[in-house]
Amino acid sequence: MPSELQTQKLLAVGVDVFQIYWTDEDKFQHAENLWRLVNHKGPRVLDVGCGVGAIGAIWQKRHPDLVVTGVNPDPLQASASAIPTTRGKFQECVDLPADYFDVVTFQYALGYMPSLHLALDKAADLLKAGGVLFIYDICCIDDTVRSLLDYRTYDIMEMKDALDYNFKDARVLFTADHSEVFRHSMESVGEDMAAVQLILSKTSPVCYRAVKVDNA
Ligand SMILES: C[S@@+](CC[C@H](N)C(=O)[O-])C[C@H]1O[C@@H](n2cnc3c(N)ncnc32)[C@H](O)[C@@H]1O
Repeated sequence: MPSELQTQKLLAVGVDVFQIYWTDEDKFQHAENLWRLVNHKGPRVLDVGCGVGAIGAIWQKRHPDLVVTGVNPDPLQASASAIPTTRGKFQECVDLPADYFDVVTFQYALGYMPSLHLALDKAADLLKAGGVLFIYDICCIDDTVRSLLDYRTYDIMEMKDALDYNFKDARVLFTADHSEVFRHSMESVGEDMAAVQLILSKTSPVCYRAVKVDNA
């Protein structure tokens, strides 16, 4: 997870979204594009690993019927969050209501969970039947780079297998290039520039959408 110093640097330069934009789009457009991919009308959204709540706040502003809440263990980010945020590690949060959320999303956060299966099981518990799990992440195309990342990446088949357990209609929605905004934010916090460049060249954004099955 980003160190306190990295978080301070990002917040100081005004980078409030730590993730991967489509090339050439601004963050409002990016948030709207993600919401279009979520493609669900229910109002209750949980953003796991919400950073400073930037995406949730944009969603909520553009769609006033939404109620977006976040989870984040980082005290600095949680206190700067633009959405109501439960402070804690997702896997340890016991007071989130079951069968309640219409959408649970992980955006560049799944790789911080200690267990993929436990995280997806918990997301399934929290979702209503028919609710949408939406994951926006990075995919690593080179094993040697995995060790450089302070983040766990999963390949697409591994993700689809994990999603099949509690969800139906699991789909890979897109992969794309990293944007300049993401490059800039990586470069502004990375200590080893050669490693940052290698990571950027060997990873790509990926999105998954799946629907909770009735009996999960
Ligand atoms: C790379 S940032 C992504 C932030 C935001 N989702 C975005 O896309 O801009 C990863 C986030 O996951 C949070 N995080 C790390 N471990 C977590 C955990 N166990 N449970 C919930 N959130 C976690 C970090 O504090 C950070 O806010």
